[in-house]
Amino acid sequence: MSNLFTPTEVGPYRLSHRVVMAPLTRMRSDPGDIPSDLMVEYYTQRASDGGLIISEATPVSTRGNGYAGAPGIYSDIHIAGWRRVTDAVHASGGRIFQQLWHVGRQSHIDLQPNGEAPVAPSAIAAEGYAYSKHGEVPFSMPRALQLNEIPGIIEEFRAGAERALRAGFDGVEIHGANGYLPDQFLQDGTNKRTDEYGGPIENRARFLLEVTQAAVSVWGADRVGVRISPSGAYGSMSDSNPPATFGYVARELDRLGIAYLHVVEPHIKGTEEIAHGKAPIAAQHLRPKFSRTLVAAGGFAPDSAEAIIAAGDADLVAFGRHFISNPDLPERIRRRLPLNRYDRSTFYGGDARGYTDYPTAEAAAAA
Ligand code: FNR
Repeated sequence: MSNLFTPTEVGPYRLSHRVVMAPLTRMRSDPGDIPSDLMVEYYTQRASDGGLIISEATPVSTRGNGYAGAPGIYSDIHIAGWRRVTDAVHASGGRIFQQLWHVGRQSHIDLQPNGEAPVAPSAIAAEGYAYSKHGEVPFSMPRALQLNEIPGIIEEFRAGAERALRAGFDGVEIHGANGYLPDQFLQDGTNKRTDEYGGPIENRARFLLEVTQAAVSVWGADRVGVRISPSGAYGSMSDSNPPATFGYVARELDRLGIAYLHVVEPHIKGTEEIAHGKAPIAAQHLRPKFSRTLVAAGGFAPDSAEAIIAAGDADLVAFGRHFISNPDLPERIRRRLPLNRYDRSTFYGGDARGYTDYPTAEAAAAA
């Protein structure tokens, strides 16, 4: 019997299966970072009865963006477009949380208001590329945030959470993973501050916990999730003691009573890499520290997803790349059908090709 197709709960919601759509940046919004018709079609295709989708990461401010074409939630003009997405998902009987995003230093001056430097806990540049309108550009040198600017950024997350509520989402997920701003505060390779947001882990975790509390103030704790990537090196991330750092974070988030903790697992390559040769931290290690729903993501195939649920190390499994190429992924897994292959060249930006034109199993059989 399949474990992936037994019902479970996330916060107040009952899910009929455990195949979650992972947050996936696809950079296909309309000008003004407004959700496009194509995006509505894409999410409609991927919604399933009793299933959970996490939206692509959505910047809570223009400074929080590092990817031209990512849809926003930083202005009221974005609400109506997202409402079309959430209505479509709900019409299929599905649930959708919005992932709230601030890239911090993973940006470029071309993407920043007035060409200013991106912001970060400390003025240390990441290696890698932002996506400007003119293509990939190396990350710019960031400037360190002043202490008195931090409440304003937390307020941007709160306002984003409130717009998500008005747009009809079922909850929000704080993007605390993959080397973006909350993660830059958490890990000591990127946080050299000497004020109350730097130094010991109690201080480095303050930003993520305050952002999470801001979302909780809008939604209640049981409709807020947080994503972390304790073993990811993406975005030039490093920490001198990941088990202590992320163990503390998991316990504190548990105390806040949030609906779920979403953990990017260490065993994948590509968008995530195994960190700094140290013992990787997986959902399994955080399970004893977090009492509610645990979502695992990263490199899962149907069999390994079944196995992690059977082992009790996670309650839900989020799929990224397989969901890109298989709009009917839950149904395919349930029926043990073969999966379409994904095309990396169409992951980031472009048109319908590699976005809304992957066939369902039914369509493929009829062709
Ligand atoms: C991602 N990933 C990602 N993660 C996240 O938290 N927010 C995001 O917006 C994105 N965007 C994104 C775009 C693309 C094209 C890829 C391939 C990945 C990471 C993603 O959610 C997931 O953790 C990884 O893809 C690993 O899972 P899979 O693909 O092995 O199932």
